[in-house]
Amino acid sequence: MMIGSFGFVFLGLLSASASRAYTGTNAALECRCGMSQFLTLPHANITSPAEAKRCASYKLIDARGTNEPQGVSTMFYPMIQNILANMTGGVSLPVEYPAAPNQNTTSGESFVIDIITEGLYHCPDQKYAMFGYSQGASLMLNVLGQLNSSALDSIKSVILVGNPYRIPGKTSNVDAFGQHDKKASVGMFAAHAISSNSTIPELLREMDQSSKVLDYCLEGDLVCSPNPACSCQIPAGHLSYGLVDSVQKTAFEHVINRLQSVSN
Ligand SMILES: *[C@@H]1O[C@H](CO)[C@@H](O)[C@H](O)[C@H]1NC(C)=O
Ligand SMILES: *[C@@H]1O[C@H](CO)[C@@H](O)[C@H](O)[C@H]1NC(C)=O
Ligand SMILES: *[C@@H]1O[C@H](CO)[C@@H](O)[C@H](O)[C@H]1NC(C)=O
Ligand SMILES: *[C@@H]1O[C@H](CO)[C@@H](O)[C@H](O)[C@H]1NC(C)=O
Ligand SMILES: *[C@@H]1O[C@H](CO)[C@@H](O)[C@H](O)[C@H]1NC(C)=O
Repeated sequence: MMIGSFGFVFLGLLSASASRAYTGTNAALECRCGMSQFLTLPHANITSPAEAKRCASYKLIDARGTNEPQGVSTMFYPMIQNILANMTGGVSLPVEYPAAPNQNTTSGESFVIDIITEGLYHCPDQKYAMFGYSQGASLMLNVLGQLNSSALDSIKSVILVGNPYRIPGKTSNVDAFGQHDKKASVGMFAAHAISSNSTIPELLREMDQSSKVLDYCLEGDLVCSPNPACSCQIPAGHLSYGLVDSVQKTAFEHVINRLQSVSN
């Protein structure tokens, strides 16, 4: 797992107050800086933690991003609420882990792997939909890389947003409308890993082509789509997944369709 000096990039990204970095008319459109305090606002659970761990027909497991307090990530709250309201028998289970600036996702990976391992044993019919935002996207990519085929079969859907390990050319890459996205952007952590010749947590080919995964990257999210002309501490695009209706609606439909699909 890549941490090292890179953790400090993110620390810097989130610790300083929002700055203005308008460098021209066109750049201004895509270079809106965000307010890092937005992430630290109080978070809630949708399902009580005790109930969320019991057997259900499906579990919606979400991993929040750096500095978001424990609870359902702001980026997934509307879609998770709507899925639960439209399909009976599900629970929402936020990953318990620090989501700290050092980007250490190890304990969160174990949390998810334990849930699925116990689920395969005690609740064999339970299905899973995974959600990961920013550091949470890295966490989910790391989890997927550690699961065997029976565990992967039980995972019907994966939604990633603001993925710092975005790699161009993946089938799963989508734009704000859930449409395949050919843009060449390399996520900021992926770019660093490439330049330092270290391993990138990425979707295996089979998972990438399974039609289970949507990896959203909004225009103006410099974490998944770096823009050298923009020097925001945290870009507004990286904070916007929870309020862009096309993201919420297309992801909602994807998860519902995947959970209801009989074949897979
Ligand atoms: C949400 O659940 C977590 C455990 O996952 C718990 O630590 C936290 O206190 C709960 N938050 C609220 C607001 O109840
Ligand atoms: C989902 O459920 C909510 C609340 O029950 C409802 O308002 C909404 O129309 C439903 N959406 C879809 C797409 O079924
Ligand atoms: C990451 O966290 C795990 C579990 O909390 C800990 O054992 C490990 O030492 C940490 N790794 C680093 C590099 O700090
Ligand atoms: C896959 O892993 C789970 C635990 O995560 C284990 O219970 C199961 O036996 C494994 N299945 C295979 C086919 O190895
Ligand atoms: C990069 O890593 C690979 C294997 O991990 C190694 O074979 C190769 O020599 C490395 N390249 C550089 C430039 O360090």
